Amino acid sequence: MYDVETPALLLHLDVVERNVEHMAARARQLGVALRPHAKTHKCVEVGRLQLDHGARGLTVSTLVEAEVFARAGFNDLTWAFPMDPSHIAHACRIAEATGATLRVAVDDEHTARALVGSGLHVWLKVDSGLHRAGVDPASPYALNVAAELAKERGLVFDGILTHSGHAYRTTSKAEAAQVAEQERSVMVGFAERLRDAGVPVQEVSVGSTPAMAAVQDLAGVTEARPGNYVFYDRTMVLIGCCETADVGVTVLATVVSHQPGASHFVVNAGALELSKDPGPAHVAPQAMGSVRGAPELTVATVSQEHGVIRAESPAALDGRFGVGTQVEIIPNHSCLTVPLFDEYHVIRGTGDGARVADRWKVARGR
Ligand SMILES: Cc1ncc(COP(=O)(O)O)c(C=O)c1O
Repeated sequence: MYDVETPALLLHLDVVERNVEHMAARARQLGVALRPHAKTHKCVEVGRLQLDHGARGLTVSTLVEAEVFARAGFNDLTWAFPMDPSHIAHACRIAEATGATLRVAVDDEHTARALVGSGLHVWLKVDSGLHRAGVDPASPYALNVAAELAKERGLVFDGILTHSGHAYRTTSKAEAAQVAEQERSVMVGFAERLRDAGVPVQEVSVGSTPAMAAVQDLAGVTEARPGNYVFYDRTMVLIGCCETADVGVTVLATVVSHQPGASHFVVNAGALELSKDPGPAHVAPQAMGSVRGAPELTVATVSQEHGVIRAESPAALDGRFGVGTQVEIIPNHSCLTVPLFDEYHVIRGTGDGARVADRWKVARGR
C-alpha cells in the first residue's frame, strides 16, 4: 500500500533509469545520436535524465512542450509535428526569448516559403511508410520542397526526418526489424536522391520505440527519436517490444466496489486516468489496461471515472480485491495516460521496499 491518494500516476524510477541507460547504449552501439521524444513524459526531470545519458537534445510534439523545456534550459529542441504558417511567429518567439535552437518540421512548399527569414532550423518531414504526414520521397514534390529549403534564405536546412509509427502494427521484434530497415533504406535512398540533385543533406533523423528496439543497422542515419521507451506500456509488451518488468509508469487505483460473488470489481481509474486507447487489437483481445502483478486480470471496460476489472470466475479473484485495496494498472498507452495527470509520484525501490521519493510535474498544457 502506498500512502498516496488515488487515482495517482506512479513513475518507477529504477525502471525508468534502466530504460534510459539501455536506449542510450543502443544508440551508441548503432552509431547514431539520440534525440528522445519528450511527448511521452512531458517532464523536465525525465528530460534531464535523458540528457545526462548523452541525448543531444529533445523532440517535442507541441509548442507548449517546446516552451517548457526551452525555459528549463534545454537548448536544442525539435518540434516534430507538421508546421503550418500560423505557428511560425510563436516558434520564433520561443527561440528568441530562450536562446534555444528550435528545429521545426515541414512537408509543405507554401509553409517552406513562409519560413524564409524566420531564422529557424527546418527539417523536411518524410513519409517512410506510416502514410500519415510527410512528403512522398519518390515524388517530384518532395524534391521541390527540399530545393526550396536548401536555398537557406534566412533559415537553416537541417536535413530529413521521419517517424516509423507503422512499427506499432507488428507482432514481434523480427517484424519490427523489417519496418526499421524499410524506414532506414527509404530515408538513406531519399538523402542520396537529394544529394544527387544538389541538395545538401546533413542529418537523417528516424525513430519509433519498436523500430529502435529491433533495428540491426542504422548505416546512413544520423539520429533517432524514440519516445515511448522511457516508460513503455501494455501495448509494447503485447507486440513483443519489451517485458512487463520494463514498464515504468502505472496508474495507482483503489477498489471502490466489489460485490459478493461477483467476478468483477470496480476501481477509481476510468477513461480520465487510463485514456480510451484500445490497445493492440491485432495481437490480443481488447482490454483497457492490465493489473501489475496479476497479468490474468485486465480492465474490461472504462467509463469516465470507473474502471471495471474482470476475472474468469469469482474464485479467480481469491478474496484479494476487497474495497480499499490498491491496484496498479499498466496502461495501454503511456503517452496518452501521462497527460491525464498533473504530477508523477516518483517511486524508488520495488516490492515491500518501494516508497514515494519525490513528485515531478507533468507539463500537460496545450
Ligand atoms: C514524429 C515522431 N517522432 C518520434 C516519435 C516517437 O515514437 P515512439 O513513441 O514510438 O518512440 C513519435 C511518436 O508518435 C512521433 O510522432
